[in-house]
Amino acid sequence: MEVIIVKDYDAVSQKAFEVMKEVVTGKKEPVLGLATGSSPIGLYKNMIKDHKENGTSYADVRTFNLDEYVGIPRDHEQSYWTFMHENLFSGIDVKEENVHVPYGDTKADCEAYEKAMEDVSVDIQVLGIGANGHIGFNEPGTPFDEETHIVTLTEKTRQDNARFFEGDINKVPTHAITMGIATIMKAKKILMVATGENKADAIKAMVEGEISTDCPASVLQNHKDVVVIVDEAAASKLS
Ligand code: F6R
Repeated sequence: MEVIIVKDYDAVSQKAFEVMKEVVTGKKEPVLGLATGSSPIGLYKNMIKDHKENGTSYADVRTFNLDEYVGIPRDHEQSYWTFMHENLFSGIDVKEENVHVPYGDTKADCEAYEKAMEDVSVDIQVLGIGANGHIGFNEPGTPFDEETHIVTLTEKTRQDNARFFEGDINKVPTHAITMGIATIMKAKKILMVATGENKADAIKAMVEGEISTDCPASVLQNHKDVVVIVDEAAASKLS
């Protein structure tokens, strides 16, 4: 696991962009695994800027997102599909038919998503990390061998997210569909971005802790090509 510590969010986003650009320009038909959340927004901004200023093309890129809520329409303002279009896809020349965000609530939906990824194999998977070490919607305790699956959201997660749903927990979906840890581990390269003091414990557990389902991200110690880009605050508890 390569850990790169830089000053702040902007520096993390710049470094992450450099890693991403190498994959996008170095492959004929790159396959990108993508994440939502606040951590990769700066990376996505840099990709859009580079596309507009330098003409880097995403016409032959295929994308697969980590996760999505269950039970809200695709074009709901809080769906991850909408997030990705607003924060990345609308600013680059990726073809809509090459964009994949998981959708559905059945085992067959999960298997179809897993199969679609297996057929092409992900070149680089972008990840953020939860303060409790989660990756995707894989919360502590999730077995490492799970592939794409449906999860029940905890009361805590739903409360935290209620602010995005008019402050009403009843409007927050109860389930989500997510790549599993085994799915994430199939990616050829993993690019994790994390900033802020509230991620420091999770980063320490991921990098220096025991490999355990207590910290789902610790499984990344077993992957042969992981780049972790963190700011000084997120790195502050590393020894
Ligand atoms: C996003 C995802 C989540 C986030 C994580 C960190 O698709 O699956 O695991 O990466 O919750 O979120 P932020 O970046 O908002 O701190």
